[in-house]
Amino acid sequence: MFSTASLSVLLLSLLVGSLYTPLDSNSSFVTQKTVTENAFVAQKILLVTAHPDDEAMFFAPTILSLTGNPTESSADLFHLCLSYGNADGLGETRKTELDNSLDLLGIAPDKRWIIDHPDLQDNITAEWDADVVAKVMKLYVSDLNIDTILTFDSGGVSSHPNHQSLPKGAQNLIKTLASESTKPTPRLFTLVTAPIFTKYISILSVFLGKVDIYSFRITQKLELLIVDILSEYYPEVATPSTRNLNAQLAPVFISGYTGYLKAHEAMRAHGSQMEWFRWLYTTFSRYMWVNTWLEVKA
Ligand SMILES: *[C@@H]1O[C@H](CO)[C@@H](O)[C@H](O)[C@H]1NC(C)=O
Ligand SMILES: *[C@@H]1O[C@H](CO)[C@@H](O)[C@H](O)[C@H]1NC(C)=O
Repeated sequence: MFSTASLSVLLLSLLVGSLYTPLDSNSSFVTQKTVTENAFVAQKILLVTAHPDDEAMFFAPTILSLTGNPTESSADLFHLCLSYGNADGLGETRKTELDNSLDLLGIAPDKRWIIDHPDLQDNITAEWDADVVAKVMKLYVSDLNIDTILTFDSGGVSSHPNHQSLPKGAQNLIKTLASESTKPTPRLFTLVTAPIFTKYISILSVFLGKVDIYSFRITQKLELLIVDILSEYYPEVATPSTRNLNAQLAPVFISGYTGYLKAHEAMRAHGSQMEWFRWLYTTFSRYMWVNTWLEVKA
């Protein structure tokens, strides 16, 4: 029989082993439509955050995946930060820190913007007006021909009302664009706020996230196999097109340990923010390792 010790060693090595390589469900924010329609692959992606350090603290796994190993066909990633994070009067310092962080994360100076708008000031008790957020975002979305917007979800990861205003703003923008033109509107993906008990299990969430992706892939392969066999012997029951191609795993980005270290370095670029509790955060938070996205339909 297995001893508890050997089981623990096995479990621990599985956990640690899962930290080794990064894994994406599909790094291009693909929408698989029907069998006949082509998948839509993101080309121009705009990540919208609220304060300098959001990008490193919450979005690093996605940014690193999109900016790592660029090829001809990989999507362009742009970043827009809607405030200087001036709640404590450190705005200018934090702007510089953001530059350093984005240098580390691989978003070039000509692909990133930070704005200082009177109605969008860093304030832990203030919700930002969704129309103002939409108006500001619109300039960049139209100018850059953005097809995919990434931002917080209504939980805002940390329930910060500034974060929570962003998906509302993005939805307003998409509504406006839809009413103004017949062009396809950008798609909106929001970063899933994890339930509190899974927020701080960092490396366990890497393991669980990977189990999710692999089991999805295995299920897909099994389904294909079963449909193939069925269609061979019972063509009246199943044809290869019976496959459910709409099945699609939500986009998930999981960093390997090098990605985690890079995210940590980017976090440390925000020197003015690294108080003791941030060190705890960067050690235990799942967002330093895993990003799960949900598409929001207008
Ligand atoms: C992502 O999906 C697109 C479209 O279905 C496909 O062409 C591409 O190979 C996929 N990439 C990965 C890494 O699976
Ligand atoms: C933050 O917002 C609240 C209202 O939500 C307001 O009363 C307060 O003055 C604001 N603080 C700053 C520093 O602007």
